[in-house]
Amino acid sequence: MDGAAASTTSPSNSPPPSPPPDLLAKGTMITVSRHYFSEESAKDSHCFHIDIMENMEENYGMFVWPCSIILAEYVWQQRSRFAGKKLVELGAGTSLPGLVAAKIGADVTLTDDLHKPEVLENMRRICNLNKLDCKILGLTWGEWDAPLFELQPDIILGADVFYNSTDFDDLFATVTFLLQNSQGTVFITTYHNRSGHHLIEFLMAKWGLKCLKLLDGFSFIPAHKASSLQGNIQLVEIALDDRTVHQ
Ligand SMILES: C[S@@+](CC[C@H](N)C(=O)[O-])C[C@H]1O[C@@H](n2cnc3c(N)ncnc32)[C@H](O)[C@@H]1O
Repeated sequence: MDGAAASTTSPSNSPPPSPPPDLLAKGTMITVSRHYFSEESAKDSHCFHIDIMENMEENYGMFVWPCSIILAEYVWQQRSRFAGKKLVELGAGTSLPGLVAAKIGADVTLTDDLHKPEVLENMRRICNLNKLDCKILGLTWGEWDAPLFELQPDIILGADVFYNSTDFDDLFATVTFLLQNSQGTVFITTYHNRSGHHLIEFLMAKWGLKCLKLLDGFSFIPAHKASSLQGNIQLVEIALDDRTVHQ
């Protein structure tokens, strides 16, 4: 998980900041991991870093998953595509991909389960820590609250959001709605192949979606980040299938 951040640290880099005193006083197991982003040609110096507050004792949305490290690196490498775009991250948790997008000039809305206020509060703290101005929204997949109707993203991101197959249909319902609500939008997601690739393919067809791109997550991340990550992680880009009649 955050081992990837440590592996990118060069000796001249300052350590990540300490967690805020009010959180430490509560006795929670908070750590801050630092994630570096570098030009491919300059492996020993970095362009910027993002600090992430993680809480190992809490739920899934409170630490940085490998899928998020891979998606964040993709956003950084493809930055000309993301700069200036309206972007929504679903199930963002600690939000590394969305924060990288904000850093390179995207207009970012970070979302996570409306029923997990501690995750949303952690997102706020992480944005403040990195001095990044992102909108934060409680958005539960498959629930139709008013703010969802106002989102018209150019790009939707989701890292490790395909992990509980009972949520897949709800997630696809929300993604399909967002894709329909804004022309030309794409959904870019990274997932562990353990999650059932065939089920994802089946649901894409069911929801009238098509795969535009499928990449092995390890095919583009730098070796020093890959060495501390494990698993079969894929990046897939999804759009509405024009051949389907959408209601
Ligand atoms: C495995 S974590 C991934 C977090 C983060 N994207 C990452 O990769 O580090 C899954 C995330 O999805 C969120 N989530 C789970 N079920 C959800 C739902 N029904 N609606 C919205 N978010 C949900 C969790 O709160 C959590 O942040």
